[in-house]
Parts: sequence; structure tokens; C-alpha cells
Amino acid sequence: METKGSTMSFLVVSVLVLSAMFQDCSAAFNLLNRKKPSASAAASSSAKRDAKSAPSSVVFPVRGNVYPEGLYYVTLYIGQQPKPYYLDIDTGSDLTWLQCDAPCVSCSQVPHPLYRPKNNLVYCQDPICASVNHPGNHKCERPKDQCDYDIEYADHGSSLGVLVKDEFPLRVTNGSLLKPHLVFGCGYDQEFSTVSSSPTDGVLGLGNSKSSIISQLSDQGLTRNVVGHCFDGQGGGFLFFGDDLVPPSGVVWTPMSRNPLNKYYSPGPAQLIFGGQHTGVKGLMTVFDSGSSYTYFNSKFYQTFISLVRKDLTGKPLKEARDDQTLPICWKGTKPFKSIRDVKEHFKPLTLSFSNGKNARLEILPESYLIISSHGNACLGILNGTEIGLQDINIIGDTLLRDKIVIYDNEKRQIGWIATYCNRLPNEDRGGKASHPYGIDFSILSDQYPAVYSFGDDAV
Ligand SMILES: *[C@@H]1O[C@H](CO)[C@@H](O)[C@H](O)[C@H]1NC(C)=O
Ligand SMILES: *[C@@H]1O[C@H](CO)[C@@H](O)[C@H](O)[C@H]1NC(C)=O
Repeated sequence: METKGSTMSFLVVSVLVLSAMFQDCSAAFNLLNRKKPSASAAASSSAKRDAKSAPSSVVFPVRGNVYPEGLYYVTLYIGQQPKPYYLDIDTGSDLTWLQCDAPCVSCSQVPHPLYRPKNNLVYCQDPICASVNHPGNHKCERPKDQCDYDIEYADHGSSLGVLVKDEFPLRVTNGSLLKPHLVFGCGYDQEFSTVSSSPTDGVLGLGNSKSSIISQLSDQGLTRNVVGHCFDGQGGGFLFFGDDLVPPSGVVWTPMSRNPLNKYYSPGPAQLIFGGQHTGVKGLMTVFDSGSSYTYFNSKFYQTFISLVRKDLTGKPLKEARDDQTLPICWKGTKPFKSIRDVKEHFKPLTLSFSNGKNARLEILPESYLIISSHGNACLGILNGTEIGLQDINIIGDTLLRDKIVIYDNEKRQIGWIATYCNRLPNEDRGGKASHPYGIDFSILSDQYPAVYSFGDDAV
């Protein structure tokens, strides 16, 4: 794969623009579409499912890394003659879209031939169309008009296009091959600040509104409305839809926040603990966003955090490497670091504690918040959010989400995590590969769609 350009060029921040975020009407609107965990709703939806069959799960191998690629992605097959596409895994936005030959006005060079729509436009009367447009902005004069969309990301990249519906063949964990028809965006006009070539064909939107792929699968009774990802610090990992791979114990859960940020996956306000000591930083409004490679704290918290890190490094054999432009803050040792193992002992762990979750703790080891640059320096994967206009929102991006299974459970409205090795599926060591149900499903997946992946590739 091509990874040209400077190291900052794939800095993907994918929370939607802030103007949308603080419109109360849009927050309220999203609430209406959301499943509430009330007893009656749960009972009726499970009754609906039992009438068909129990929902299953889908597992995808993940590729990518924080540095140098700057993203984690999966391969999805789309169409009646399924073709592969690489999609950037994004829990910070809802709509899935592909760069698209509709024909294309502005597309980057992508890894696969552009998707071509063929008489599969979604009408503007479709409820999914309403959910991708702001209520004040949703024009639908004739019910059978096409449904246009226009999304902008926090890094000011954007995609403009039209909604289409097509088949997504998915191998589920019970062995069946499902072929749901799902709605996604055919993006014929993209703007991205940096690159003319893109490492993916589009974005896999996994937020919690009606348009997201996971909501659509759940509305069709095929999987539960649960998403989980595990990004390996060394590259790779896995993604799942449904709850079959949620570990039965050991997961730290915290309720999803119900404030204006509830459009995003937010565990509510956090407190910052560094090296086991309280830092006095409290009330960080956080959002979990797998579409953002780095983590962003707003200026005040960022300042506190970097001062603590710097102070803690006094007297240690590390010097700031101001000549390394990889990220804003890098340190060099007496000789270049080959891996994070050479340097992690000099840094302390960082902990976020969430009051909504009875002080549920997200423990972050130095190997998760640092990256080793191509110059052999250790760079801080936490950046100044104020610099990119994030104001009060703090984005927990891939740098802090690595080496854990992170679960977004929209059924129970909670977010959970558990530290693990992401180069193998949960429970794989319990009984050996041969008897592992998901292992078998993986081989089915690769028979059906060859050359996808095999676990272990990325092991160090
Ligand atoms: C497997 O699960 C799917 C739902 O996810 C269901 O439609 C299908 O019938 C199930 N297959 C079997 C063999 O149980
Ligand atoms: C963060 O960025 C803002 C806006 O560019 C700047 O004013 C502030 O000084 C920066 N904070 C730190 C700690 O670098």
C-alpha cells in the first residue's frame, strides 16, 4: 500500500463538524431514533427477533496502524457480484460511504476501482435519508427524489454524494452467509486537505444513529446493536458486530453519556491520573473515536499533561527532539529507538477515570500513547485539540484505544473495554485453534473471499 506524504498527512479526525454538534434540535432528533433500554422496548424487539432467529455476529480482520499509516481499516465486500473495498473504521461518524463513480467530480486515487451505482438510489422519504440530514435541512419535495448527503469531518475533509442501497455479503459466526441490503453513501465529490491518494476506498460509519451500518443490521434483526474493535499496537487486530465476542467477564463498563455529546460515543466526563497520581484535571468531556489516529486534549488539559510528562522525564536519559517533525513533541535517546520496548520504562501510565461509570478506569500504558517515529524517536500521540478547533471536546483516538477490546453496546447504552492482545481473537487460547468457533468462521471467510487475512501475520 502507498503511504506517501508526510507523517501528518493521514491525521484523520472524524468527528463531524462542531456546528452540528451543539444544535439541540439535532440531538433531540437523534434521541428519537435511538433504542431505549426500557423493558417494553427490549421485550418487543426480542419478540420480533425470536420470530425470525437469534441474531449472530460478524468478525472482520483489521489492518493498519497509528503510525505510519494513521488508520485502521477493514475489507468489506459490496454488490451482487461482490467487490472488495477498504473502509476506515470510524466510531465517530454514522454514514458509511465510498468514493464513487456517479460519475466522480472529485475523488482521490483509491486502492480499488470506484464503486458504480446502478439504479439503486435511496429515496428521500427513506427514514435513513432524514437521519443523515439535519431536520431543518432535509428537503424532500417529491418522495421519490434522490437523497443527497454532505458530511464534513472535524479535520475539514468532506464528502458529498447520494445515498444508495446494495448487498453486503457477510459471513456470520453461526456459519450462514447473509446478504443484507444496506444503505451507504456514494461520494462523488470529496475534499481532503492533504492527499491525492487515499489508503482506503471510504469510511465505515459505526456511530449510533439510524444510518450507521450497525444500526441497519440490528434493525433487520441480524446482529445486536453492538460494535467492538481491538487494534493491535503492532498493527492489525479485529472488528466485530454483534455481541458473541464480548468477553463474559473482566470488561470495565461505563454508561454512555446523555448530554449534548450523545450523538457520539461518550463515556461522560473524565478525570486524568498520571503515574497513579491525581493531576487535578477533571471534567474532560471525552468522545471515543476510532476514526481519529491521535488523541486530542483541549489546550488547558494538554498543557497540564505535557508539563507532567516533561517534569517526570527530568533526570532521565531522554532529550526533546525538536528537529523531529513527526508529531509536535518527540524525545530522543542516546541512540535511536527500534521499538517502544526500548523506551517505555521511562514513561508512566496514564489513566482516565469516568465518574458516570463509578470511576471506571481506562488504563493507558506508554506503549499506547507513544509512537516511534521513522527517526527512532518516541513521540507523544496526544495532541492539542484547541489547535484544530475542537473546543471542549477531547477525542480519545486510536493512540489510546490500542491493545484493548473496546465495546460500544447500543442495546444497553454502555461502553466497555478490556486490555488484551489484539493479534488473536478472544478465547482463542482456551481449547486450541482447532476447536475455536471463530477460527473456523475465519477460514470460511477466506474460502469465500480469498486473501483476506490470516491471524498471526502481524505477530511480532
Ligand atoms: C445465523 O444467524 C442469522 C442472523 O444473524 C440468521 O438469519 C440465520 O438463520 C442463522 N443461521 C443458522 C444456521 O442458524
Ligand atoms: C494549543 O493551541 C492553541 C491554539 O492554537 C494555542 O493557543 C495554545 O497555546 C496551545 N496550547 C499548548 C499547550 O500548546
